[in-house]
Amino acid sequence: MSSNRTLAIIKPDAFAGSKAGLILAHLEKGGFKLIASRVMKLTHEQAGEFYAVHKGRPFYQELVEFMTSGYCMPMVLGRDNAVLALRDSIGATDPAEAAAGTVRKLYAESKGRNAIHASDSDENAFREARFFFAETDLIR
Ligand code: CMP
Repeated sequence: MSSNRTLAIIKPDAFAGSKAGLILAHLEKGGFKLIASRVMKLTHEQAGEFYAVHKGRPFYQELVEFMTSGYCMPMVLGRDNAVLALRDSIGATDPAEAAAGTVRKLYAESKGRNAIHASDSDENAFREARFFFAETDLIR
């Protein structure tokens, strides 16, 4: 996967609140193209593996419970400088600290229920996209 792609997940709070379309429209207006997407419910095993880097942190268990609590929407997004551009577009982890106009300021409830995940590096974008999608799932 090229560095012009990144992985996002519309989280269970936003999906259950019918915010998926609004969030995707917001990101498309920001220049992102949808390269692949799916709707799914993560198992505890999948959520634990996806967030393994946070294992042992105080919020890990709550994070896994939340991410398995409902449907979510992983997607690969494309744009120049995709990883950094998406991190800018979604805003700070805690919506109270997120800049005006960011996805989390607009749609997130709290640091835990924060509407969207985005990869934090090209390396993780590649690994995280692979977690949900095969190369053949991606639009070329
Ligand atoms: P995300 O970008 O999906 O990556 C890890 C997630 O852990 C983060 O968003 C938050 O939803 C969640 N989280 C919950 N509590 C904290 C915390 N105190 N610090 C960082 N992340 C947290």
